[in-house]
Amino acid sequence: MEQVEAGALIVPVFEGRKEERFGAGDLLEAGEIAGKPLELLLLHHVAGVAATRVLLAGAGKAEKFDPAEMRKLAGAAVRHLKSKAVKSIAMALDPEHASADFASAAVEGAILGEYEPDRYKTDDGEKKSVDRFTVVAAGEDLEDAVTRGRIVAEAQNFARALVNEPANLLTPNKVAEAARSMASEYGLECQVLDSERMELLGMGALLGVARGSAEPPALVVIRYRPREGKSTSHLGLVGKGVTFDSGGISIKPADGMEKMKYDMAGGAAMLGAMRAIAQLKPAIAVTAFIPCVENMPGSRAQRPGDIVTAMSGKTIEVINTDAEGRLILADALTYARKQGCTHLVDAATLTGAVVVALGHLNVGLFANDDGLRERVLGAAKSAGERMWPMPLEDDYKDYLKSAFADLANVGGRWGGAITAAMFLKEFAEDTPWVHLDIAGTAWLDESKPFLAKGPTGLPVRTLVQLAMGWADRPEL
Ligand code: BES
Ligand code: ZN
Ligand code: ZN
Repeated sequence: MEQVEAGALIVPVFEGRKEERFGAGDLLEAGEIAGKPLELLLLHHVAGVAATRVLLAGAGKAEKFDPAEMRKLAGAAVRHLKSKAVKSIAMALDPEHASADFASAAVEGAILGEYEPDRYKTDDGEKKSVDRFTVVAAGEDLEDAVTRGRIVAEAQNFARALVNEPANLLTPNKVAEAARSMASEYGLECQVLDSERMELLGMGALLGVARGSAEPPALVVIRYRPREGKSTSHLGLVGKGVTFDSGGISIKPADGMEKMKYDMAGGAAMLGAMRAIAQLKPAIAVTAFIPCVENMPGSRAQRPGDIVTAMSGKTIEVINTDAEGRLILADALTYARKQGCTHLVDAATLTGAVVVALGHLNVGLFANDDGLRERVLGAAKSAGERMWPMPLEDDYKDYLKSAFADLANVGGRWGGAITAAMFLKEFAEDTPWVHLDIAGTAWLDESKPFLAKGPTGLPVRTLVQLAMGWADRPEL
């Protein structure tokens, strides 16, 4: 480790442990760094170390140090070094925390931390980039773990970059274009359904939302098939792709409306997941369905009180045009079922109510099937993305009663995240299904030491992990 050539070598130091190497001993002694999580101390010209700098990075208590902490530590360290224009970075893993999971997490943290949503900043002088990140560990062969971490983190950044695109530049059909070029780059099949096709399929709920915008809608379908082995399961990933949510005729307040470009974060996550899945090649068939629309109050927009017929045949009274996500997802879920998906997972920035319930820390998770719920929760845990199970009992269905149609698209004041999920459940029908409400977690309002402000790229890692782990537990 001492011999590694780099602009900087990151060395984790643990609380209450005496790290003697890399010049840390005296500094710990002097109290300059205690090893608390995300403390950073940059040293120059450390005797016996080839790297130009050593960055001592607090890792907290060694017993509590897990891959999630590793991801944050690597992210914070890389962001700090990047701000100092360091281009080549190495990270030393101590033998106790040098398994494949830790190595993947370190790489993920580094790549995620390095990402900056600065595409539209024109002052190139301000832009710094890290060109090289090396994991240094004794023993075990960590090559595959590093590759896996890189693929997943790059896919997550791909999703983040899409979410950050402004709605004037990323229209529904631009999402479709981005999907097509991603699919062709990674050898996936891609199909885009236009409004004529949607009309033929009877997607009245999706088309109703699209009416208010001059931008035509698009339903993106991307298919991955495992090369060999018979996969009896077929996972459908359905992502909300509202490129801008003005609320429509039930228009939103101006304050903060600019954030509503992120309303396609669920769709972007599905594209990111497919990008990684194409490279990692799990043993299960996966198809992504991304209904893309712009929710606008144009002169042909749907109105409160309108009744639309969804592809499933159910009629919906549109009480509030701002509850548009569930409308487009309804038809996408029906289409996914008709396409033969045996399991469905959707992700959507669906409700403000989920932010009230869980804040910005946990994804709200709803399910109509215990097995799939456990699978997704397990994948989330190992991917280090926090999710919390929410109730979805049949009694909530009463909240969605409409006097004039089969159901209303909103359920009144209380339990908004639950009634939204309940609405979707009507369209998942008897297919095992999990709904992820990511309204509180897809966007970071203030940057963290390890992650830039803006899109987070959740839940790409969980979805990839879900697909990768599928064959391991065929009993579910
Ligand atoms: N895209 C929003 C969800 C949202 C709202 C995310 C606020 C972040 C902050 C969604 O389409 C929406 O507008 N939902 C409404 C539903 C309501 C009209 C029942 C909401 O949550 O206010
Ligand atoms: Zn809305
Ligand atoms: Zn929305």
